[in-house]
This record gives sequence, structure tokens and C-alpha cells, in this order.
Amino acid sequence: MVNHYNPQRLSDVAVTRVTYIRRRGGQNRIMTTVSLPETVGEIAAQYPASIRVFEKHGIDFCCGGKRPLSTICQEKAADLEAVLNELTAEIAATPAADRDWQSAPINDLVDHILTTHHSYLKQQLPRIQAMLDKVAGKHTQHADVLLPLQRVFTAMHEELDSHLMKEEMILFPAIRGAGASHCGGIENPIRVMLMEHDSAGEALAEIRRLTNNFEPPEDACNTYRGVWFELGELEGDLHRHIHLENNILFPRVLA
Ligand SMILES: [Fe+2]
Repeated sequence: MVNHYNPQRLSDVAVTRVTYIRRRGGQNRIMTTVSLPETVGEIAAQYPASIRVFEKHGIDFCCGGKRPLSTICQEKAADLEAVLNELTAEIAATPAADRDWQSAPINDLVDHILTTHHSYLKQQLPRIQAMLDKVAGKHTQHADVLLPLQRVFTAMHEELDSHLMKEEMILFPAIRGAGASHCGGIENPIRVMLMEHDSAGEALAEIRRLTNNFEPPEDACNTYRGVWFELGELEGDLHRHIHLENNILFPRVLA
């Protein structure tokens, strides 16, 4: 497999063409050509399969989505060429997603966010909270981790409850055109939502740190392990959720 591109150009140009070549029957054969935009948010929006690679490398594609891949790799001392190879292979190996949310009707995208991500949070946040409260009350030997984790999670839970309500009562109806008479237009509520997404992103990063990358201690009971597992799932869902809003829905609304 060979990728032809000029890494230097990634920081200079918006679009880089990456050619995916697979050796077959002794001959190089072009299998797939993908054009990767510069920022990780745009790459994730255009090629959802790329999210798996970003997650594997701990690359923030949602709140930090406006940053170029080359800059992020440089900061993480990650091999840009290797990451590009992985992205190209993942994109080439994954069939196109059912829906292209960049071109689907905007109301369908709003419905998808509500039925997939808002309903998930409404079900899981209280469930994880109850499990975490139980574990924190019982396993006092791990209080140094469980008490700060409980504080961070509880604050994020409360903020997200209010965030979902604002989106459902104010922003999404405005996007659907049902509540068009907004003081200051739609930019202000979107700006507030973006700030709240940043706050949720910071809480998730802190939760990942406190849980040792969702790795439970050896003496953890099943409920403890369940909390760690569910927190990891929550991070994945919330990253995708924020990505859909920050990198696809809001830019489409503001375009
Ligand atoms: Fe949101």
C-alpha cells in the first residue's frame, strides 16, 4: 500500500489528494482516491469512517474540529504519514454511510440527533449517575478517584440536561423554521451551544483522565466495571453527537 501526497502541503492547502494503491497480482493498482480536507472536523464530516482512526489516536474531532490534522499530529508527536495511511485505508474499506448528513434535509438531521443522541443521553445520564453514586458510596478505598469523578460527572449531567432542553425548546425549533422571530438571530443560541459543547468536551477529557482511560482497578466489582464501561460508551456517543452539531448542523444553518 502506497500513499502519494506531500505532507508539507497539508498545512498550506485546504484539500489534499491521497491516492490509495494496493498491490495486486504483482502490479500496483489504484483502488480508491479520496480528497481529505485540512481540518479534522471537515474530514470527520465528509468521511465518518475517519472517526474510528481519530478516536484510536485520541484526536479531538468534535470541539477541536477546526484544527488541521497536520498541526495536531505535530503536537502529539504522531507520524502524520502513518495516520494518513490509516485514514485512507479505513475510508476505502468502509462502505458509504446510509445518510450523507451534509446533503440530507436539515430537518432529518435534527430528527436524527434527537432520536439517536438526545434520547441516548436522557436514558443513560440518570442511569450512570445512579451507578456512580452507588459505587462512590460503597468503595471508599477508591475515594481519591470516585469523589472527583462523581463531582465532574454530576456537573456535566446537570449542564447537559439544561443544554438538551435549550436545543429542544429554542434552537432546534428555530432551525426548523418554527420559531423564526429570534432576537439577534440564530447565531447567538449557536454560540452558546458551542461554548457548552466545549465545557462538555472538557468534562469528558477529565473523566477519561480520572478513570485511567476507562481502565478499572483490578479489585473493581461488576457495578464499578459497568460504570467505567458506560462512561467510555458515553464519551464515544457524545463525541459523535457534538461532531454532528459543530461540524455539520451549525455550519449548514449559518451558511
Ligand atoms: Fe448540543
